[in-house]
Amino acid sequence: MALLDGKVALVTGAAVGLGNAFAKALAAEGARLSVCDVREEIDALGVDIDSEVLRIRADVSIAADVQRVVADTEKTYGRIDVLVNNAGVWAGSRPTDDLDKTLADYDYLIGTNLKGSFLFGRAVIPIMLAQGDGDIVNICTDHVQTCGSPWQLDHDDAPNCPWAGQPPRPTGGGPGMDLYDASKWGQLGLTFAWAQALERHGIRVNAMCMGATDSYMLRSFHNFEPAPEEEARWMKAADIARLMIDLIRDGRTGDYIGAAVGHPIVLPPRRANPYVLPRKPR
Ligand SMILES: NC(=O)c1ccc[n+]([C@@H]2O[C@H](COP(=O)([O-])OP(=O)(O)OC[C@H]3O[C@@H](n4cnc5c(N)ncnc54)[C@H](O)[C@@H]3O)[C@@H](O)[C@H]2O)c1
Repeated sequence: MALLDGKVALVTGAAVGLGNAFAKALAAEGARLSVCDVREEIDALGVDIDSEVLRIRADVSIAADVQRVVADTEKTYGRIDVLVNNAGVWAGSRPTDDLDKTLADYDYLIGTNLKGSFLFGRAVIPIMLAQGDGDIVNICTDHVQTCGSPWQLDHDDAPNCPWAGQPPRPTGGGPGMDLYDASKWGQLGLTFAWAQALERHGIRVNAMCMGATDSYMLRSFHNFEPAPEEEARWMKAADIARLMIDLIRDGRTGDYIGAAVGHPIVLPPRRANPYVLPRKPR
């Protein structure tokens, strides 16, 4: 029996890139899929996979779209077992940008990456609460690790973080992407708060914090003509998707899983997360 036989997985931003690989990996584990995206390629997802697929054009930053996706998914399948908050965008932004640019960037980056995850969480959590079971995976970035988060600084032996033990940086992405990184730190904040609040209801919440992975987004940074040696270094979306399946199979909650170029893409051992404190008995 496959890991997700009889289960339903909802993946946002699944038309291309990592989300597409996540959807296919979940289907390969037996999950029926609900996928959404703003791109028309979403209409073709699943023609080559042996699983039920509900395809929806929707914008994760719009509350009404999110409600529609979740309502259609529940109406079609009657449950949602896995939510992957993957839809994301990138743009450069600096603290010195003029107000018009910075407000547009804020809506674009925070609206998609953070508000999208927030809206889907709020819409799906009640369904998972009623089931008493569920997995939420928020797709972050290695920037929240390469800044030298306290856990990494204290654990020089972190197997898959090349930055472990190095001095912290102001944001992992650097000063030219303050809003992207803020959106991803925000996603991490949701991850830890949800993990703590929902553990006793059987809902596990984790984040994935990968580095450069071959995708539409990454190729766009290289004008879709990356140098062969650069392209060869990138991690493959299918390998990150395998890591996500391993994470769901493991059953942990409240963790943030790194994957770095040039390092093994493996699930690290379970660890105590200093951000998710054990509840004190009253
Ligand atoms: N590729 C990398 O190297 C990398 C590294 C770290 C983190 N990430 C994160 O992984 C996730 C996926 O990135 P990717 O590299 O596959 O990007 P991508 O651009 O290749 O794919 C992103 C998908 O999200 C969709 N999307 C964007 N905005 C949307 C919206 N408002 N509503 C619905 N769908 C929307 C896009 O249409 C696209 O299909 C993102 O959250 C990104 O920040 C990627």
